[in-house]
Amino acid sequence: MAFVVIGAGGFGREVAWTAAEAGLDVAGFCDDDPDAGGRLAHAPFLGAIENAAASLAGGEVSFIVAVGSNKARRDLFKRAEACGWTPRSVVSPHAVIAPDAALAPGCYIGPGAVVSVGARIGSGAIVNNIASIGHDATIGDFAQVCPGAAISGGCVVGTGALVGSCATAIPGVRIGADATLGAGTVAMRDIVDGASIVRLR
Ligand SMILES: CC(C)(COP(=O)(O)OP(=O)(O)OC[C@H]1O[C@@H](n2cnc3c(N)ncnc32)[C@H](O)[C@@H]1OP(=O)(O)O)[C@@H](O)C(=O)NCCC(=O)NCCS
Repeated sequence: MAFVVIGAGGFGREVAWTAAEAGLDVAGFCDDDPDAGGRLAHAPFLGAIENAAASLAGGEVSFIVAVGSNKARRDLFKRAEACGWTPRSVVSPHAVIAPDAALAPGCYIGPGAVVSVGARIGSGAIVNNIASIGHDATIGDFAQVCPGAAISGGCVVGTGALVGSCATAIPGVRIGADATLGAGTVAMRDIVDGASIVRLR
């Protein structure tokens, strides 16, 4: 089955690197920007998802969306599924994943990340480099935990929420759907859906 990385920017190249380390062959990159292929070294640029689907027709295709915007990632995910493609997770061999952690299809777990016992990672979610997901925590679909962030035990990160680099959620906190926890911020209590919280200066 051909494996395609959707998103040909810096994060796309990072995800392709991790995929290669995990033993996956990247058949190519998709991007709506026709000029996005300029910095790709190791795999061909396939253009927009629908164009790639036409040229890869007849074969099964799996994909991951490697785009930082949570909303754009969700939209691209749906477009790829509409083409009959199957989401595939990319997990770094340098991540540590508990045996009973549950990873939904199409998520990304970067190098150095730790996903602890009983944790659940949603579809299309990102757990980036050196992030820590505590026991029994839930990371919602299309949510994103940026590098170095620490989500403590029992926390819930809602669908589409963004946890910035090196942010921390103390145990049991719920970060609402589409909410933002700014880089370096410590969440001491729940954050309502759609809210944006940054640390006190
Ligand atoms: C929280 C965040 C989303 C806000 O972005 P924004 O809406 O564009 O906000 P702005 O940059 O306009 O900043 C608004 C104000 O909040 C402050 N602010 C923004 N983020 C902050 C943070 N993490 N901690 C403290 N203050 C912060 C800004 O200094 C600014 O203050 P001012 O009004 O006194 O000048 C963004 O700053 C952030 O932290 N994003 C996380 C990104 C990340 O970690 N990415 C990793 C990708 S791998």
